[in-house]
Amino acid sequence: MTDQPATQPNRRRFLPSGPLKGRIRVPGDKSISHRSIMFGALAVGETRVTGLLEGEDVMATAAAMRAMGATIEKTGGEWSIHGVGVGTLLQPAGALDMGNSGTSTRLLMGLLASHPITASFTGDASLSKRPMGRVIEPLSRMGASFTASPGGTLPLMMQGAAPAVPITYRLPVASAQVKSAVLLAGLNTAGITTVIEPVPTRDHSERMLTGFGAQLEVGEEGGTRVIRIHGEAELHPQQIEVPGDPSSAAFFMVAASVVPGSELLIENVGLNPTRAGLVAVLRQMGADITEQNAREVGGEPVADLLVKHAPFSGIEVDPAIAPAMIDEFPILFVAAALAEGRTVTRGLEELRVKESDRIAVMASALSAAGARVEETEDGLIIDGTGGEPLRGSKRAIATHLDHRIAMSMAVAGLASRDGVEVDDTAPIRTSFPNFEALLDGAAA
Ligand code: S3P
Repeated sequence: MTDQPATQPNRRRFLPSGPLKGRIRVPGDKSISHRSIMFGALAVGETRVTGLLEGEDVMATAAAMRAMGATIEKTGGEWSIHGVGVGTLLQPAGALDMGNSGTSTRLLMGLLASHPITASFTGDASLSKRPMGRVIEPLSRMGASFTASPGGTLPLMMQGAAPAVPITYRLPVASAQVKSAVLLAGLNTAGITTVIEPVPTRDHSERMLTGFGAQLEVGEEGGTRVIRIHGEAELHPQQIEVPGDPSSAAFFMVAASVVPGSELLIENVGLNPTRAGLVAVLRQMGADITEQNAREVGGEPVADLLVKHAPFSGIEVDPAIAPAMIDEFPILFVAAALAEGRTVTRGLEELRVKESDRIAVMASALSAAGARVEETEDGLIIDGTGGEPLRGSKRAIATHLDHRIAMSMAVAGLASRDGVEVDDTAPIRTSFPNFEALLDGAAA
């Protein structure tokens, strides 16, 4: 290795691989790690966290919470967070740099919306294209004010409201980030803030805020989830064990399924029903995935997953399952490209506003690797190879600062004839810093 400046892209060709074997453990869940830091920073006393994801996105959240008064440090294998209390966050001295992380940005905008704080948010080129209007809108109704860049993007300045006013908000998009932003704003707002969620999304905020002692009720009215949070909450420090991230395990589920002879045990995978959609869809396509040692970790269902090579068949993916696997479509598209027959996905408009436009970027990446892909407005139609390796890419695939595109195309490389070159593996550090080491180890 030569010393490269941090901005130098890391190009890598992922070559066809032998079977994936042995056992691996993926890093902690990204959603739960962000929330552990944020909620710990709002609880007076010491919160201790094991299994925290030490990816760049979570570290951006930690830096922001430090800038607002929390003490966050790693001692031995554990993270220790000394919080400042709801309502007593400090004015940050400089801009909050959110890097690549939409979750950090949207959740923190919510948190600050009910604090007497002026803050500016900045991010990288990918994050600076992503829509923030979806949180600006409800948070403005609560009294916060915003000056955003054109199109409602970063960089933006916000002024929190003190006091903020409670609202009842019906989510116009299926987004756990928007839901969480409103709930977090509700923490320091007198009265009851209500979120109506027509389409259920990941429920880590609800579970964890309850664990931290917030008064929060989740009910159902006319078939719709309704979440109420009582304001001026007092959070109590917790001991948290973060389960492994199913969104990271996903790359290995597909890799072991598509490379003949593989048999891989992925330990400690979070299987919260609002996150486990990919396991169900892969099984529908023919995957051989067995859950072992089912248990609870940190209030979340967890199991070890034994994944054996098995041929995939194309399916029509039910759009209703999308929220439970919203980050897993790039790798599902890779599975579909290697399946027998046609896979049709629809209802995936949200993928166009992730770290990249994951519909367009995966269509072009998979086509460049030799797959047969048709892009529609809201999904992809993929005709698979029937288990034959993909041709591979001649040129480097553009990953557009999107970690999940890079990891998905790395897996495509394992199941290709000539390998797949990825233009930059650096973004993988946002969510899965040891991805390449684990992949190389399992395939060795
Ligand atoms: C997340 C919610 C999802 C997901 C993201 C993490 C969260 O985003 O894509 O990776 O932790 O709340 P949306 O709320 O935009 O769907």
